[in-house]
Amino acid sequence: MELGADEPIGDMPVNRYEIAAAAPKPVAAEVAAPAPDSGADPVAAASEAAAAATSLESLAEIQSAYEHCELKRGARNFVFADGNPEARVMILGEAPGRDEDREGRPFVGRAGQLLDRMFAAIGLARTAHHADEALYITNVMPWRPPQNRDPDPAEIAMMLPFVKRHVEFVNPDILVLMGNTPCAAALGKRGILRLRGNWTEAFGRPAMPMTHPAYLLRNPAAKREAWADLLEIKARLGGAT
Ligand code: URA
Repeated sequence: MELGADEPIGDMPVNRYEIAAAAPKPVAAEVAAPAPDSGADPVAAASEAAAAATSLESLAEIQSAYEHCELKRGARNFVFADGNPEARVMILGEAPGRDEDREGRPFVGRAGQLLDRMFAAIGLARTAHHADEALYITNVMPWRPPQNRDPDPAEIAMMLPFVKRHVEFVNPDILVLMGNTPCAAALGKRGILRLRGNWTEAFGRPAMPMTHPAYLLRNPAAKREAWADLLEIKARLGGAT
């Protein structure tokens, strides 16, 4: 578990030394093919790739083909987004956990269930058809970090161009920054317990930093403040013209 082996992948142990001895040597082309251009600047490559996207669908396709993020190699699935792209409220989370990595959808584990209940309390749902009642949900990182560690600054920096483009396409009235990673990405700041509850601006639109539902599961007393933040969001939606 400490090494990050949290899932069984077979019933029988495999002696990989024997397999290596028996396997035919790969031909040179197979070895050379998958190596990405290691000389390229990953952030510049991401900016160029994201700029080429013409729609949400093409952004998903382009981002999933991005080869400079090591997390991609350890993940089962590319987790792009869920909910209604017409929504007025867009939630930006941190990164997929185990359940999300399995399902390929953001916020489907315990924290995600709490997130759904929190937003249902102010009349918003990812399944809603009408923009006024809808939610759109994504994460800074589309691939699960090993052992759910925090994404490092370089990983965040290379996803930022994709996140910006994602926000442009969805064009929400309000962005919710769920936890420290989205605050680091969108505001260049950490310290969610200080930032939460205070309106700020991210990607040129109003943004509300909130404590992550995983934090609320561990610290139920903080739900009171999260409720106040939800009411702020509701009030701003009601007041917007
Ligand atoms: N936590 C996140 O920030 N995002 C998810 O998708 C799941 C858990």
